Amino acid sequence: MKVAVYPGTFDPVTNGHLDILKQALNVFDQVVVVVAQNIGKHPMFTVKERVEMFQLAVENLARVEILASEGLTVNQAIKLNAQAIVRGIRSISDLENESNMAMMNRDLAPSIITVSFFPSETLKHISSSFIKEIFKFGGDISSHVPGPALEAFLEKGK
Ligand code: COA
Repeated sequence: MKVAVYPGTFDPVTNGHLDILKQALNVFDQVVVVVAQNIGKHPMFTVKERVEMFQLAVENLARVEILASEGLTVNQAIKLNAQAIVRGIRSISDLENESNMAMMNRDLAPSIITVSFFPSETLKHISSSFIKEIFKFGGDISSHVPGPALEAFLEKGK
């Protein structure tokens, strides 16, 4: 069975992330989304909230599991018997960071490969930071995030 982990901060999950996930499901038998704490970021939503909104967003998708991160992504991949880490590359600027992360993960665990997917043309400008900023200033984010993420924003914003 081919298993991949798809790690990210997902603060919040966007339609761009779902696009990458669906592409990965064409290649892997199971994809485990790993929602990271990410010590370098100050997320708007807790890990629990991000796991919950992702779970609701993939309710209709089979072969997907959503978990909270437990330390290093490669260790979690090994623990889950995954062979690969899935990442999305939207632009040249993503590429530099993604290639460094892929090589570091390969140093840490040579048996785990990184597989990158490219988002659909209409989704490549989406980022979680843009979504948060647009929401904060009263803009419409409904076409960029799945319904459960929109609901989570409305709940927080109350
Ligand atoms: N569509 C829309 N947005 C996308 C996207 C896509 N397809 N792919 C990435 N993004 C956005 C994210 O929304 C995020 O936007 P933001 O910076 O505005 O918040 C940005 O691109 C990158 O975020 P993300 O994909 O969540 O990656 P990350 O850099 O936040 O996550 C981890 C990095 C969590 C995967 C990595 O730090 C990790 O594995 N941490 C666990 C500890 C570990 O193993 N560290 C060693 C790493 S070598």
